[in-house]
Amino acid sequence: MTKYRIAWMPGDGIGVDVMEATRIVLDALKFDAEYVPADIGWEFWCREGNPLPQRTIEILQTCTCGLFGAITSKPKDEAALELSPELQGKGLVYSSPIVGLRQLFDLYTNLRPCKAYPGNPLNYRDDIDLVVFRENTEGLYSGVEFHPFPDELRTIITKYNPRMSRFEDIARDDMSVSLRVITTKGARRIIKKAFEYAQQFGYPTVTLVEKPNVLRETSGMMTRVGRDVAKDFPDIELWETNIDAQMMWLLKNPDDYGVLVTSNMFGDIVSDLSAQLVGGLGFASSGNIGDEFAVFEPTHGSAPKYAGQYKVNPTAMLLATKLMLDWLSESEMAEVLESAIAKVIAEGKVRTYDMGGDSSTLDVAHAIVGKL
Ligand code: IPM
Ligand code: MG
Repeated sequence: MTKYRIAWMPGDGIGVDVMEATRIVLDALKFDAEYVPADIGWEFWCREGNPLPQRTIEILQTCTCGLFGAITSKPKDEAALELSPELQGKGLVYSSPIVGLRQLFDLYTNLRPCKAYPGNPLNYRDDIDLVVFRENTEGLYSGVEFHPFPDELRTIITKYNPRMSRFEDIARDDMSVSLRVITTKGARRIIKKAFEYAQQFGYPTVTLVEKPNVLRETSGMMTRVGRDVAKDFPDIELWETNIDAQMMWLLKNPDDYGVLVTSNMFGDIVSDLSAQLVGGLGFASSGNIGDEFAVFEPTHGSAPKYAGQYKVNPTAMLLATKLMLDWLSESEMAEVLESAIAKVIAEGKVRTYDMGGDSSTLDVAHAIVGKL
C-alpha cells in the first residue's frame, strides 16, 4: 500500500511535457504514491463531447488529491467546430473542465504564490513575494449565463431593477448575460483563508481587491465580509483597493504587497499580472483547495504550439507539486523541493527558452533532481 493516491491528469498540450518532468522529480524524492491516470481535456471534448468524463470524476473521488497539467480551452463556437462529426449539431456546449472541477469538488481556494527567486533573469524586481487568494467557485465564473436572454427573466429583472428597462428594445438574441454571483459564505471562507495564511507566514497586511464603488452589491458584499473577518485578526491590517488601480500599483510598487484576496475573475487577472512580475507563467503555480480535496496545477495554459517539444519551463508545475506536498503536510519534502528549484534558478546553468537558455523541460527536471 502506498501512502497516497494521486489522480494524474496531464490534460493536453504542454501539460503532458511538464507532468513528465514532475514525475521524474517525485520519483527522485521517493514520494510514496500511486498515480492514477485520469482523462481530461480537449481530446475528450472532441471525441466524446465532454472534456471532463464521468469516469474521471469517479477516479478523483477515490484519490487523496490530483495533479493537473493543462488543457486547451476555446470559446463556444470554435469548440463546437472541433467536435467529431457524429457529435456535431447536438447542442453540446464546451465549458472549461478545470473550472468544472473546481465547482464540482468545491475547491474554493485558488492559492497562487508569486515569488521572485533570486537569480531569475525574468524577475521584474528581486524582492517580490505575492500570494494571491482567488475565490474559485463563484463570481463571474459561476457558469450562470444566458443567451438568448429569456423573456421571463427580463420581465422579472425589470420588476426588481428599473435599470433593466434601458435594454427593452434589444431582442433576446442580441443580448447575453453572465451572472456575477457572490455569497457571504463564499466571500467569508476565501477571505478567512487569506488572513489565516497571512497570520501563519507573518504577512502584515491582507489586500482585498474589488470594485465596490461600481459593483455595489457583489464587491460591496466582499468588502463588508472582509471587514468583518478582519476583526478576528487584529494584528493584520486590511487594505481595500480597486482592481483597476491595484493593477497599476502592483506594477509600480509590487513589494508593498503580500497577501491579496479577491473574487474569481479579478483573481484570474491579478494572478497573471503577479506571475509576470516573477518571470511569467513558467513560474506560477496554483492550488485549487477545498476542505477535503485539492487539485494542483501550473497557472499556464496548454500552449499547443509547443506541445510534445519538451521546450517549456516545468518550474510552474514543480512549484505546484511543492504546494501539493505542503497540503499533504509533507513539509520537509516540500522544502527540499523548493530549495532545489531555487538552487537551479540561482545557478543559472540550466534554463529553458523563456529564460534565454536552450535546456529542455526534462533537463530542468534532472537538474533539480541533482540538487535534492
Ligand atoms: C486559470 C486559467 C483558467 C481560468 C482557464 C483556463 C479556464 O486562466 O487557471 O487562471 O480562467 O481559471
Ligand atoms: Mg488565468
